Amino acid sequence: MFSREENEFLTRVGPGTPMGTLMRRYWIPALLSEEILLRDCAPARVKLLGEDLVAFRDSEGRVGLLGEHCSHRGTSLFYGRNEACGLTCIYHGWKYDVDGNVLETPAEPADSDFKKKIHHTAYPCKEVAGIVFTYMGPRDKLPLLPAYEWVSLPADRMHVVKAYLECNYLQGIEGDFDSSHTSFLHCNNLTDLARLNRDGAPTLEAEETAYGMRAVSIRKLGADQSYVRISPFIMPAFSIVPGPATAKFDENDSRAFRFWIPSDDTSTWFYILTMRDTPFSDEERGAARSWIDSSYRRIRNASNHYLQDRELQRTRTYSGIKAVIPAEQDACATESMGPIYDRTQEHLGYSDKTIIALRKTLLLAAKSLQEGREPPHVILDSKHNDFSRLRAVKGVLPANRSWRELPELEKVVV
Ligand code: FES
Ligand SMILES: [Fe+2]
Repeated sequence: MFSREENEFLTRVGPGTPMGTLMRRYWIPALLSEEILLRDCAPARVKLLGEDLVAFRDSEGRVGLLGEHCSHRGTSLFYGRNEACGLTCIYHGWKYDVDGNVLETPAEPADSDFKKKIHHTAYPCKEVAGIVFTYMGPRDKLPLLPAYEWVSLPADRMHVVKAYLECNYLQGIEGDFDSSHTSFLHCNNLTDLARLNRDGAPTLEAEETAYGMRAVSIRKLGADQSYVRISPFIMPAFSIVPGPATAKFDENDSRAFRFWIPSDDTSTWFYILTMRDTPFSDEERGAARSWIDSSYRRIRNASNHYLQDRELQRTRTYSGIKAVIPAEQDACATESMGPIYDRTQEHLGYSDKTIIALRKTLLLAAKSLQEGREPPHVILDSKHNDFSRLRAVKGVLPANRSWRELPELEKVVV
């Protein structure tokens, strides 16, 4: 049974909250590079961990992420002038650089040193894989960005998209550690009842790791084989899930990172970063985002009942939601729980074992930080910063063998 206190503890992310403090100790996605593509282009509004921010790219290409409201009297810098290496408030002309220094206060007397006494909220940024990452924690604790596979992969081998989720981040990421739902929610062929019978109730395991946790699901495959899926959860809210069980195992399915980043307590930006060894064409990039609109909102959303088709549900698919990617069906399942699901009302079963493990990992990390211990996977030493082989895994084994004997594990680290 999950208590009200635990639910509050895990879901609130604003400044000063336990989870908000934990998440602020890692580099997290703030926005896509394409949202501020050009030097001196229009700034972008960013709401992140409950804070109102504004992102801009200055005349030299540097990215800044500033508190949205001007340090003078609060006008939004979203409307500011982005020019000559700074963002200038349109009310009285206070000008800021990417580091939050106040460069000009033109309405003050010429000999005033007022501007030197003020420092505006500014978070450091790094652009990697088409994403602007930021660090919102204490400066003296600034960690390295872990060197995941996508940190050094050429840009044309990656595709990234983000989408808005109208609920708390935890509901979103819990779906990635809920192996049994794939047999139901994502069953797109009702005649494939064998699949439902085979997959419906996998054996589950969860283990703590240095980067967070790994979740393992094991399904019977006939009398003498098992089908194993291993999904890493990476602190503070990232995941890698193996792609669907298709006849042909495409290992690129098991490379994609998913980032579940709280915009505030009741909304989330989730990013999907796909990788492969050959370039993506423009056509493929377009197709890979055909399920969102130009403001990264899903075309199938709560306001249109996810375009659910009851006839389709009756005759063809389990959900009746015809999706370009499974995340659209996931969004219906997780958003319809409400903005922050009251977990005192749930009834957890065996199939929720890995979700319980995920919550425990987050609870423990936030509690140990409260007690003054460093949270897991905060990387400070470049000698211990190779996560390039961190992937999800899926594979088939003789039924009497442990998942640790999967031959696929030799090439990767999970
Ligand atoms: S409110 Fe921004 S310069 Fe005055
Ligand atoms: Fe799903």
